[in-house]
Amino acid sequence: MPAIDPRLLYLNIPEMDADHERLVALTNKISAIVEQPEFRQKDFSTELRALKEYTLQHFSREEAYMAKIGYPGLAEHKIQHGRIIEALAKLAADGSTKGAKIALSLRLFTQVWLFEHISGQDGEYAKFVKGKS
Ligand SMILES: [Fe+2]
Ligand SMILES: [Fe+2]
Repeated sequence: MPAIDPRLLYLNIPEMDADHERLVALTNKISAIVEQPEFRQKDFSTELRALKEYTLQHFSREEAYMAKIGYPGLAEHKIQHGRIIEALAKLAADGSTKGAKIALSLRLFTQVWLFEHISGQDGEYAKFVKGKS
């Protein structure tokens, strides 16, 4: 799976784009590790921790931003964020932080949630911002 170009996920909201770029960088780092033949021996606890910490920070900044602009979909969006955090916690708690299963699940999870959530649900508040200006 090739690296994700962060420009594909731009919402044209500079502060949120900067956060999303950082999430893309974390995702691409995980993907690059999985491309290496020795990925099964790699321990992913550092990446898991970094991803969880940064995702939590991003979600709270994003929720504050949506509250500031009066976005009507905020409550629903918070539920979506909660689901992602839950899935991430489950992934981290799912046994070992080492091995093919966690490596492949982590790559798939980050790539899928990045695309689906940022281009989908985050795209909705970006549309709302556009409509107001
Ligand atoms: Fe986001
Ligand atoms: Fe979001």
